Amino acid sequence: MRYLVLFVFVFLFTTSSFGQETPQDFLSAEFHKERREAFRAQMPPNSVAVLFSNPVRNRANDVDYIYHQDPDFYYLTGYREPNTVLLIFSENQTDTAGNSYNEMVYAQERDPSAEQWNGKRLGVEGVKEKLGFSMALNGKEFAKTSVDFKAFDMVLFFDFKNDYRDARGSADLFDLINVFKERTNYPSDYDATKQQLYTMIKSTNVENSANVAQTLGRYLNYYTDLQKDELLSNFVNAKDDGVRKEIKEKVTLELKSNNLNSGVIAEIMNNLRETKTKEELVLLKKAIEISAVGQVEIMKAMHPGMSETEIQGVHEFVYKKYGAEYEGYPSIVGGGGNGCILHYIENNKPKVGEELVLMDLGAEYHGYTADVTRTIPANGTFTPEQKAIYDIVYDAQEAGIKASVVGANFGGPEQAARKVINEGLLKLGIISKEEEGRTYFPHGTSHYLGLDVHDKGTYAPFKENTVITVEPGIYIPEGSNCDEKWWGIAVRIEDDILITEDGPVNLSAMAPRTAEAIEALMKEPSPLTNFELPSLD
Ligand code: GLY
Ligand code: MN
Ligand code: MN
Repeated sequence: MRYLVLFVFVFLFTTSSFGQETPQDFLSAEFHKERREAFRAQMPPNSVAVLFSNPVRNRANDVDYIYHQDPDFYYLTGYREPNTVLLIFSENQTDTAGNSYNEMVYAQERDPSAEQWNGKRLGVEGVKEKLGFSMALNGKEFAKTSVDFKAFDMVLFFDFKNDYRDARGSADLFDLINVFKERTNYPSDYDATKQQLYTMIKSTNVENSANVAQTLGRYLNYYTDLQKDELLSNFVNAKDDGVRKEIKEKVTLELKSNNLNSGVIAEIMNNLRETKTKEELVLLKKAIEISAVGQVEIMKAMHPGMSETEIQGVHEFVYKKYGAEYEGYPSIVGGGGNGCILHYIENNKPKVGEELVLMDLGAEYHGYTADVTRTIPANGTFTPEQKAIYDIVYDAQEAGIKASVVGANFGGPEQAARKVINEGLLKLGIISKEEEGRTYFPHGTSHYLGLDVHDKGTYAPFKENTVITVEPGIYIPEGSNCDEKWWGIAVRIEDDILITEDGPVNLSAMAPRTAEAIEALMKEPSPLTNFELPSLD
């Protein structure tokens, strides 16, 4: 018996971790399947959704950027290869051989020579076995697809961004999209926004048509190209309900000329991705904790002689050490006034010196990205001016986190944080009236977080299991209209907050946030202190 236990233990141990050639903690095939079911439940009757994988993007000459799957495509499939198509049908379909199916994948075909150069492909068999699709064909079959797109009341798709190239072979993304365009009579001047606005007109009734015209007017002020569209501008400028009714009829006819729709799919994905399942939260929390450890380690290792690039490298080394594949967005490390550039990614100042260093970085772990910012004094001690600004941002963030509760408006954290910042800046004499606060705090306080750093959601009142950032900041560039002693100070503090029925949970709390806790941690020894490399000059 004892030997049997030992045998079982050894067997489980060896098969569970040793000998595995890739990480095993990706989202499961069941997760993706269940998400497709949830997607299908929100589809209009007699519709088909067509999703394409992301394009391969060229970096220079024969080198491409590291491939990154489109997050919607990944969410619904778990498939991480380019040149692939997913079809989801609202109702069961039957193929010529009598097989019933309600989803299918066109896979990137296996090719031993291409795989020797660029890595393994799942192929049709892998898509069936590993991703759990019962219906999969090679991409080249898409040109002969038996799916009759014209027979559906609606074809849901994300409009193309025209950033894909024709590569070698006959089934790359370029070819697949061309097949789709031919099969669906995609108009060469298709404009997803125009279609959305036409749909808005189509659903108006006489009583609210004047209000809709006003709303449309605001859209046209923003999408100036669309002012050229006669139906839209005539609707906005119409003097009475009769004219608006006539335009509505014309718009309805226009919409009938094809069944393409790129609005409904966006709404469905916003609904699905806003809240996270348990399985997603495991990966998202891991990405966030890894990023918080990056902040902790740099706090211990930081000294005025470090360069912005080296600081970035320490964070990213920690990410890789924990198996995070990438950064979720380009890392931001800004010393002094560089921190005032909100998305500063040059990170090339040779020495951070005695200034504050703003570090906004996030690890991407198995698709999920963190977004954590800490601002610390390079020499380990805040000056009185730096601390005065830091403490306002800290208090603003505290107020924002407290407002991140189920049922509160999405704008709640923003309102709460902005109030604290405006009051703080007034008190220090940096501004003389509240309206000037935006000069020094020019960005929003929160966004959803998940597969995208700026993740998808509905912006409706907060629901349980939503993850958002709370990230107030104050940025005072040189030359600002205030006492020079504040110039060059830039502070942002950003944490990733899980909204639960029991209140907000700070998932990045492992990285200290108060000025006192940061100063204390910066006195701790770092494993990097004795990490010496040879001099190259
Ligand atoms: N790192 C980008 C952002 O904070 O939104
Ligand atoms: Mn953010
Ligand atoms: Mn950020």
